[in-house]
Amino acid sequence: MTEKSPPAGPGEQHRALLDAAVRAPSSHNTQPWLFRLEHDAVHLFADRTRALPVNDPDDRELTISCGCALLNLRVAATAAGLRAACRLLPDSDTEDLLATVHLAPGSDGAGDAALAGEIGRRRTLRKRFDDRAVPPAVLRDLLRAVEDEGAWAVVVDGEAQRQAVASLVSEGDAMQWSSPHWRRELAQWMHPRRRGDGLALAGIAAPLAQVVVRTVDMGTGVGAKDHALAENSPLLLAIGTAGDGSEDWLRAGQALERLLLVACGHGLQAGYLNQPLQLPALRHRLQHQLGHDGFPQLLLRLGYCDDPGEASPRRPLDTVLVAADDGRHETR
Ligand SMILES: Cc1cc2nc3c(=O)[nH]c(=O)nc-3n(C[C@H](O)[C@H](O)[C@H](O)COP(=O)(O)O)c2cc1C
Repeated sequence: MTEKSPPAGPGEQHRALLDAAVRAPSSHNTQPWLFRLEHDAVHLFADRTRALPVNDPDDRELTISCGCALLNLRVAATAAGLRAACRLLPDSDTEDLLATVHLAPGSDGAGDAALAGEIGRRRTLRKRFDDRAVPPAVLRDLLRAVEDEGAWAVVVDGEAQRQAVASLVSEGDAMQWSSPHWRRELAQWMHPRRRGDGLALAGIAAPLAQVVVRTVDMGTGVGAKDHALAENSPLLLAIGTAGDGSEDWLRAGQALERLLLVACGHGLQAGYLNQPLQLPALRHRLQHQLGHDGFPQLLLRLGYCDDPGEASPRRPLDTVLVAADDGRHETR
């Protein structure tokens, strides 16, 4: 058996880029990414050992999460005075290789450099936002952020559309919670904070919460809460793409993260109401409700909040590095 050499420790600059990348959001905080470093390039791989086969059977959200990490990496590179030239899916024989970012001195993205400061301030919020409305100029910035990454955004507007979308969310909650498989998978990702991944809970609360989630169908209560969140959110918005394959999902992830960072710069935070997108029957109905050609990928609520709380945990950087000679992750 040939010995694999451990990944070389990243230099200071690479470390800063990776640190930004891994702060990206990911479904259930799975952090499903791996990175291989070269002197002038970073390769981003999907880590499918961290997939969610029940919640996300096609790895759609897994790929979107990696797209978020990719956007952070690009933004951090710009802030470090580097030009980041990105190729999505650069090798059709290596399905897990999602992107290669070539780095060279020289930067032309002053706007992106400013966004880097928002990476550590972004949070996923699950509570209700303040009632303050989002000003039209801010909304325009958010929509532009999504379009800049080749995706589209639709604002869920008007009482009837809001009610219809809120009902799809609560219907989604009921369907997911009624499935013991879905509940088991969720429970598996409820971890004590010190684990560095998953949906973090205080140490002693985690085992109890896992048992409750595994055994009790809380769909009705969760659905009512999410319905109210959707109804009352200052801004409810869907992000979508023209197609529905890996490249589209990477674009959706980059669009999501750019939107979240721009939002953060305006003092806004976001929460997710993705249930209708995780269930094919409901996704079709949401698509119809939005009245937009193409494929909805994410449903978000955005608003202001005085106390966004502490950041969710991340795994140590060394655990997301793959060695240059790792046979599973060859690059050409
Ligand atoms: C593709 C994707 C889907 C997500 N879906 C949900 C969701 O349905 N419900 C939810 O509460 N959070 C959702 N999240 C947010 C993650 O749970 C969150 O990013 C993770 O717990 C890390 O926390 P942070 O965003 O505060 O860093 C999603 C994130 C991504 C990137």
